[in-house]
Amino acid sequence: MKSLNRPRLASLMQREQKKFVDERPKSKALIERGKKSLLAGVPMNWMVKWAGAFPPFVREAQGGHFYDVDGHRYIDFCLGDTGAMTGHSPFATVKAIEEQSKRGITLMLPSEDSIFVSEELQKRFGLTYWQFALTATDANRFSIRLARQITGRPKILVFNWCYHGSVDETFITLHPDGTAQARRGNVGPPVDPSVTTRVVEFNDLNALEAALAHGDVACVLAEPALTNVGIVLPEPGYHATLRELTRKHGTLLIIDETHTICAGPGGFTRAENLQPDMLVIGKPIGGGVPSATYGFTQEVADMITARHSLEDSDTGGIGGTLAGNALSLAAMRATLTKVLTKEAFDRMIPMAERWTTGVQKAIQDFQVPWHVTRLGCRAEYLFAPKAPKNGTEAHDAMDFELERFMHLYAMNRGILLTPFHNMALMSPSSAPEDVDRHTQVFRDALKELVA
Ligand SMILES: Cc1ncc(COP(=O)(O)O)c(C=O)c1O
Repeated sequence: MKSLNRPRLASLMQREQKKFVDERPKSKALIERGKKSLLAGVPMNWMVKWAGAFPPFVREAQGGHFYDVDGHRYIDFCLGDTGAMTGHSPFATVKAIEEQSKRGITLMLPSEDSIFVSEELQKRFGLTYWQFALTATDANRFSIRLARQITGRPKILVFNWCYHGSVDETFITLHPDGTAQARRGNVGPPVDPSVTTRVVEFNDLNALEAALAHGDVACVLAEPALTNVGIVLPEPGYHATLRELTRKHGTLLIIDETHTICAGPGGFTRAENLQPDMLVIGKPIGGGVPSATYGFTQEVADMITARHSLEDSDTGGIGGTLAGNALSLAAMRATLTKVLTKEAFDRMIPMAERWTTGVQKAIQDFQVPWHVTRLGCRAEYLFAPKAPKNGTEAHDAMDFELERFMHLYAMNRGILLTPFHNMALMSPSSAPEDVDRHTQVFRDALKELVA
């Protein structure tokens, strides 16, 4: 094993930064202009996190590729951090959007598509009732509120280093002394999150049982495998016991499939036959058009209905004037039936296997103490020799400086990974030559790093 030479990394990074800036004069001009009207020149705060001195501005995207304004072509493995897992502008979704946009976009009245989509969601995930939102964040927020209302309990439980969108209750981490505190970077939390939330490590059933035993947890909000701190897979039998313990303690189980839909057409839930009380999914289900949904069982629906008040049904913290709009529903209908199909997953998953094999071989050949994990059509490398068991192990393996170098090196050679960790996602348009190009670039980066 060769150890990392930090001064060398810093000098390689400097070289890559110069290359990035020199080759992108039009993006540079746009960021300079943007800085006069947008905070830091970008429309969303996290866009500053791209590894270059500024993000490449996009001219157009199609399928698994996009072009920046300077004419560079990129293989897109970030895919809008799953929002564009369908590939950019999938034909069937675009057609449905075109047609629906001429027939009304938002009405606050239902369209038949809402029933069609919920029937399709029933088939995929096995839950009976569905409601819509525009983001997975909102779908999580609404599910949590409903869980608190119907159980009459104040707290939720999440896993350490989880991410479920900008949901206040979830920005909490376990500190080495065992206390739960606001997560680093938490902006203006309304209350100390330990008031609202219990947090335990993923794969730690003893800690889970102890936390649930307090009897004050309305719901566990869980990704079935953590995907936002690298991939952390559940240990064998973990989900069966999670389900057993939540039932035993009267706690609802909400599974957030927003990213783990990578496991197949019915997400991890269908692939592993999970039995959640509620299920959330957003991001790719509208092919990139803002769309999200949350589903629940008959039992949960009965409890919601028993507390429902006609007079107050337009308030109460579950809302969104544009939620369930006709355009999103048309996009969801087309995406679910014609784009994110079983046939599409049958192509995407082998692409991720190919990506993983290439990365794994490079890790072995260059003897770096890294690891690669795959879940369906999503794969990720991690700067630790073995797969992490929980969020802390995964988070401890992160290396901001090294990560930025790998991302910038790839970006300078026409490959985009997600900016937050080392994730590659396959779309139905991802091709073997795209994957092989990544393997080559990854090998070249390692060669330079260990030289
Ligand atoms: C598992 C999971 N749930 C929910 C969200 C929130 O999605 P959005 O930002 O689209 O609301 C994310 C975002 O990354 C996520 O990873």
